[in-house]
Amino acid sequence: MGFKKDFVWGAATSSYQIEGAYNEDGRGMSIWDVYSHEPVKVFGNHTGDTACEHYHRFKEDVALMKKIGIKAYRFSVSWSRIIPDGTGAVNEKGIAFYSELINELKENNIEPYITLFHWDLPYELHKRGGWMNPDSVKWFADYAALVVARFSDRVTNFITFNEPQCFIGLGYYKAEHAPGLRHPVRDVFEMSHNVLKAHGAAVIAMRKSARQNIKIGYAPTGTAAIPVSESAEDIAAARKLMFECPALENWTWNVSWWSDPVVLGHYPEEGLRKYKDYLPEITEEDMRLINQPIDFYGQNIYQGVYVKAGENGEPEVVEHTAGYAKTAIQWPVTPECLRWGPQFLYERYRLPIYITENGMSAHDVISLDGNVHDPNRIDFLARHLEQLEKAADGGTDVAGYFQWSLMDNYEWACGYSERFGLIYVDYETQQRIIKDSGYWYKTWIENHS
Ligand code: BGC
Repeated sequence: MGFKKDFVWGAATSSYQIEGAYNEDGRGMSIWDVYSHEPVKVFGNHTGDTACEHYHRFKEDVALMKKIGIKAYRFSVSWSRIIPDGTGAVNEKGIAFYSELINELKENNIEPYITLFHWDLPYELHKRGGWMNPDSVKWFADYAALVVARFSDRVTNFITFNEPQCFIGLGYYKAEHAPGLRHPVRDVFEMSHNVLKAHGAAVIAMRKSARQNIKIGYAPTGTAAIPVSESAEDIAAARKLMFECPALENWTWNVSWWSDPVVLGHYPEEGLRKYKDYLPEITEEDMRLINQPIDFYGQNIYQGVYVKAGENGEPEVVEHTAGYAKTAIQWPVTPECLRWGPQFLYERYRLPIYITENGMSAHDVISLDGNVHDPNRIDFLARHLEQLEKAADGGTDVAGYFQWSLMDNYEWACGYSERFGLIYVDYETQQRIIKDSGYWYKTWIENHS
């Protein structure tokens, strides 16, 4: 069977991680500008001020995409570049940048996939309470409507949020990402509820402002659960673990709390029970708002845990063996995450599944021959895509795959110390070099299109 004929092969990036030009042409500040400028928050005090200078080099970057042969490019819009204060006045120079980028992509037959929010909340909205403010639902819907009104003449695929687990969990609960806060858990649940309502309100607003039929998706994340064997018991145990609601101190790291409301229209029972003392008021009207029909389900999957059926069939995590394979950022290499992750998600949500991100960081260097050899990444991609194909063969509706990332970029709290790209970026000179894995991906795409 293999991948579908119209399978979407792409690569992904996000605005703050690549654009730079942080104070040019009227762009407003985001929480990441403020956070990265504070001492000791980010590795090496690195900031995204310049990043990959993509704002100025986007034509060169689209030419490289073309060279790698990707059919689709997932990027995010910087909210504060197009609405500097988050609400109100529109910055036409910011709109012009994305408009030109879209034109360049279309001219090169690369399909744009726009993510509306990849973590860079306008700082002015942060000052007004950010996601704690119930008005954030309308702020986001208005912003979404603007993006769709301006770009849906040429763009038909939009994604609302990237990884709410991370920007809420790491940003407002664990203080590891911007804005670096440790809110009481009650507040974190309230913010999360507002984020989900903002998703629903945005979907309604986007359909209204669309200039042609558009497709809307969502891109959360979560650890995939991998059964250690094909036995029915191990598979059932893994499925159960994949959608479990974790203990309070770690609660944001889960799939079902963030996705059941969006696709199924209700929070998971287990979570409602476990977290009941900390939840805001949740009305039926809220749930109806959150549960808007969407067209596809994206999930960022980087790794998984191995699971077996323990006593009474309850899931038991099986530890990695000594010396297990891992990436530079120390994440275990678990290729079967791309088989079981999509399969379990499809069983539960019955929507076409996109892997909206998957990839690895490696200690890439320019070799004496001037090239960047990254056999580990080639091996990683080959193993993961082989597993994704198994998911497709098993009947999972897998619609697309976006490698993370098109190019090395600002890896949040790790600064520029982790390289995830198919393209090497020398941050001193802004020279780009397609890595061996970029050429490998090109051949892979040719053989699977
Ligand atoms: C995020 C990306 C990030 C990548 C690697 C995802 O969590 O969406 O922005 O760079 O993983 O950590």
